[in-house]
Amino acid sequence: MAFAVLFWSLTIFILFNVAQPNENCNFDISLANGKVTETSSVFLGDNIEFECNRGYTLQGKSWHLGSGNILKRFCAKAGCRDFEKPENGFISAYGGGLRAVIECDEEFVLRGNPGTYCNGTEWIIPLGTCQKKSNPGDFSCDFEREDLCGWEASVAIPQPWQRVSAAFDFLKTKCIRQDHTFRSDVQGHFIRLQSQVHASRTSHFISPIYPRDLTLGHSLRFQFQLFMSQTGSKSLVISVKPFSMPVQDMWQSFRESSIKLIVSGDQGTNWQSHSIHIGEMETDFQVVFTVTEPSSLNGDIGIDDVEFIEQ
Ligand SMILES: *[C@@H]1O[C@H](CO)[C@@H](O)[C@H](O)[C@H]1NC(C)=O
Repeated sequence: MAFAVLFWSLTIFILFNVAQPNENCNFDISLANGKVTETSSVFLGDNIEFECNRGYTLQGKSWHLGSGNILKRFCAKAGCRDFEKPENGFISAYGGGLRAVIECDEEFVLRGNPGTYCNGTEWIIPLGTCQKKSNPGDFSCDFEREDLCGWEASVAIPQPWQRVSAAFDFLKTKCIRQDHTFRSDVQGHFIRLQSQVHASRTSHFISPIYPRDLTLGHSLRFQFQLFMSQTGSKSLVISVKPFSMPVQDMWQSFRESSIKLIVSGDQGTNWQSHSIHIGEMETDFQVVFTVTEPSSLNGDIGIDDVEFIEQ
């Protein structure tokens, strides 16, 4: 009897703890023209079954087990119009207009979604376009481009900084559903810090090299959109360093003078605009986002729409 009481209080305690980080987020998975059946257990994680209505073909596996990233499923049906040949790439359609993918010519990079499905009448997801590889001159990035406009994470396996697609990716335990640029379920990308059990090291996300000229006149601000939810006491650190200084050196020896902003703790369940002032630099420079020990992150950190603004 005493054992049973202990067992149940323990179970309730575990359930409570597992459920708690999600309290402000809505986790329903929807499947147009189909049905989703969800069960979950503390031990196995989610058990989700996907089924399409008669006449539709399920795109993706019919079940999902576990608590990781869930690739979204679609119920597809042929009948959509052909795409016109896009500029600087080509589109291949399959299944009589049920599925289409876009590929870009050499020297061009995909911006947006790589594929789409038809629901019988309309393509469900807006298909991406092909852009010249060289960056647009304003040094902004909305992370729609597959090459992340030159942003790179410091080397780590597994890599906690990941580009996430609103149309295709779904994480049940995370708050961010839509990016900042489009705020849509069918398009948009952003950068998420995925907490990973083995990612214990300090993790940097580093900008391309920006020209010193931008900083002349002391009026430059670097602005970014941040979604930081239920992260407890975790901090996101934003630093600026000369391009020639290795990021590890910056973090170990020049941290104090490089840090421009520390965002700490829960910032709510919305995208928020933050910015830092960048004084006149002596050389070309880079902006760095840093999180220490991503493995202990419970909540969600997302970055989107980085740009320079004149004060
Ligand atoms: C197909 O998608 C379009 C655009 O989202 C929507 O208006 C339409 O109702 C959908 N049709 C079906 C059968 O789901």
